[in-house]
Amino acid sequence: MLTFAYALLFYIAAAVLVGGLAFRIWEYATTPAPLKIPTTPAPRTRGGVVLRLGREVVLFESLFKANKWTWLFGWAFHAALLVVLLRHLRYFTRPVWELVVLIQPFGIYAGFAMVAGLLGLWGRRLLVPRVRYISAPSDHLMLALLVGIAASGLLMKFVAHTDIVALKSFFLGLIYLDWQPLPPDPVLLVHLGLVAALMIVFPYSKLLHAPGLFFSPTRNQVDNPRERRHLAHWARELEAGRS
Ligand code: HEM
Repeated sequence: MLTFAYALLFYIAAAVLVGGLAFRIWEYATTPAPLKIPTTPAPRTRGGVVLRLGREVVLFESLFKANKWTWLFGWAFHAALLVVLLRHLRYFTRPVWELVVLIQPFGIYAGFAMVAGLLGLWGRRLLVPRVRYISAPSDHLMLALLVGIAASGLLMKFVAHTDIVALKSFFLGLIYLDWQPLPPDPVLLVHLGLVAALMIVFPYSKLLHAPGLFFSPTRNQVDNPRERRHLAHWARELEAGRS
């Protein structure tokens, strides 16, 4: 029964995550950007824009310029999340990839770094009056969800261990449609329940800033309004109709 409930939950969560993300990305990609509004100083070539976006993705450059504390906690959280997610790939592939094997020992430190980063970001929302004023319940909820996932993960790692071999069989069984029993450990069930909740809310939450960054006109436009006339898609169609 438990296995069936969680299998169903993860099929639904995966469908919502993939379908929802695809839909939101399609929405972003088809939203017109009628104005030329790159934040200056901005690159004047496409290659420069690729580099600028690369620096945003890897270093969070504009956040660094804006606020050092938010950058520190935000960057630490995201970098740690990447390591933790890479470490988790061992539950979904057989054989486990070389990179994923190499990263295993760092994953544990990353778990703590993730919680530290999240608590720093949460502290900012609670302690800085101007930020507290603009914080909505969903901002707190997302932080609580991520802290809950990380804390239950660390609890499994250090206190209430689960049967990782059986867990891997369960997830491989989901992928290959050959269902295997899920270990009924309470902390694992909480961890997985929160992960499924995260997958379901992701496409409708502020966490969409991850793909959204690539569609931000202030970051992805080339600064060439004098060299090339900027025309929104609909304006081009309008012009073509008139001529
Ligand atoms: C279906 C997906 C997931 C499964 C099956 C899963 C399972 C597990 C298991 C079994 C552990 C304990 C590791 C051990 O004892 O060595 C763990 C730890 C952890 N999990 Fe997850 N988890 C999933 C998704 C996530 C996600 C999406 C996050 C973050 C948002 C996350 C964050 C953590 C953290 C921070 C730890 C502790 C550090 C570590 O062991 O890497 N997990 N997870």
